[in-house]
Amino acid sequence: MKVTVVGAGNVGATCADVLAYREVANEIVLVDIKEGLAEGKSLDIWQKAPIDLYDSRTIGATNDYSKSANSDVVVITSGLPRKPGMSRDDLIGTNAGIVKSVTENIIKYSPRAIIIVVSNPLDVMTYQAHLTSKLPRTKVFGMAGILDTARYRAFLAEALNVSPKDIQAMLLGGHGDTMVPLPRYTTVAGIPVTELIDKDKLNAILERTKVGGGELVKLMGTSAWYAPGSAAAQMVEAIVKDQRRVFPVCIRLDGEYGIKDCYLGVPVILGKNGIERVIELDLNSEERALMESSRKAVREVMDVLENLG
Ligand code: LAC
Repeated sequence: MKVTVVGAGNVGATCADVLAYREVANEIVLVDIKEGLAEGKSLDIWQKAPIDLYDSRTIGATNDYSKSANSDVVVITSGLPRKPGMSRDDLIGTNAGIVKSVTENIIKYSPRAIIIVVSNPLDVMTYQAHLTSKLPRTKVFGMAGILDTARYRAFLAEALNVSPKDIQAMLLGGHGDTMVPLPRYTTVAGIPVTELIDKDKLNAILERTKVGGGELVKLMGTSAWYAPGSAAAQMVEAIVKDQRRVFPVCIRLDGEYGIKDCYLGVPVILGKNGIERVIELDLNSEERALMESSRKAVREVMDVLENLG
């Protein structure tokens, strides 16, 4: 199996590192526009192999997509990260052009690859990758829900003083402040979370989750990378190993949840063909209303992209 990660910045390099460490693919190519960066980081990851005991080969390339030829899965992390005070949507002008040209290069050398988008604004950059690649929605989708639920699960684990391993959660909607965490579908080893935590505490955690990315941007002056990189690697692993994992993933809805032509996070089954199935939950009226505001927020940014031409 061959996996390419485009963008050797913090998120891309972390993703490549996790893929190598977990031996998800035997060949991992890292591509970046900055001279020497991808070569340097892949060499560094390869030099860690004798310490951490893995045999995945990491190969770097400066803008040379021929090295990525015949990849099974490609992860796009290219683009500018947020600075303090910016919303993800503020990045659209710059990142749309970057994601477009990266996708053209990927498709040229790996026409059958499955593409996972990580660049922001996530939902709309997934749309951009679809517009450029013309791949069906089952083959081009975005990573956000695993990251957002991971933040939610980590906050809950801390509040309940239990292992994060035992927190199961689902979340819908766009990768922005309108994301829709679902307490009704949150359990601690099968126990509904509402039996273990009071309403106010849970609400505070839901609100913190929605701005979880922004909290890190404020602290570091740039956006996060450990959890985003690992989350993308987990999606690659589910595909490469045909695990049929159930994850929240950003996909174009074609009528599910009563929504058409909008990229939003929903639970899916992820396997060797990419998205094997979209799972439609029976939402209550409050959840439907939250999903609708998330749809509106993403649709507005999709319109901005369409107007950019
Ligand atoms: C975040 C960025 C990667 O949520 O969108 O940290």
